Amino acid sequence: MKKVEIFENERATGYNQFVETWIPNYNYFLDRLPKLLSDANGKELLVVGCGTGNEIERFVKAPEHWTITGIDPSPEMIKQANDKFHNHDNVKLFTGLVSELEIEKKYSVATLLLVLHFLDDNGNKLNLLKDIADRLVSGAAFVMLDITGDKNQIKQNLKVLRHLLPDGLDAEQINNRLSRIENELFAVSEERLSELLQEAGFEKPLRFFQSSIYMGWLTKKK
Ligand SMILES: C[S@@+](CC[C@H](N)C(=O)[O-])C[C@H]1O[C@@H](n2cnc3c(N)ncnc32)[C@H](O)[C@@H]1O
Repeated sequence: MKKVEIFENERATGYNQFVETWIPNYNYFLDRLPKLLSDANGKELLVVGCGTGNEIERFVKAPEHWTITGIDPSPEMIKQANDKFHNHDNVKLFTGLVSELEIEKKYSVATLLLVLHFLDDNGNKLNLLKDIADRLVSGAAFVMLDITGDKNQIKQNLKVLRHLLPDGLDAEQINNRLSRIENELFAVSEERLSELLQEAGFEKPLRFFQSSIYMGWLTKKK
């Protein structure tokens, strides 16, 4: 059962370089997040799988004042986030799982970026989504970015991704990475993702962004 994906050593230290290389338009997506969520019913944000703090960075810089809680099971990723935000009173960071966060505290917005494809669809995806929904007020906005698509769609979009990668990458490295995405990660189809979200207590999600295999989704807690 795949419940947590461990990010440590070079995977943690080289993380920011990694996303910039392999996820075309990711910085654009991150930069627009505070604007996208500016009319949510509140500014209490939960960043699930916050990693090194890429999402948090954008909300800290936003013109509105956000109160931000970031959580991630990897101590090495949280350490990097903590180095960036230790002097921000409005940012709290936790090492652990969402299920370990107190249930009484409810948030008005949550994000889950590049996490769900690491968890299997034998209960772990659904449990994570339910754990998030349980910590949101009714009507809270929820944004996801994830590798999404059925087998054929992923195959086709991996060909697109290959064209969008920066020049100068090692051919073997590209093949290994694309093969890992196709064969080892747990992407689900758009229909299945929608089903999982609704079963977890969210409205039918809207796909509002796509960059090859990566799709951005927006929904609300029912
Ligand atoms: C690809 S990184 C994404 C980090 C950050 N969201 C970003 O976009 O830069 C995936 C993160 O998910 C975390 N993770 C793995 N399993 C998780 C789980 N069950 N719940 C929450 N986060 C998890 C990893 O530790 C890692 O930091």
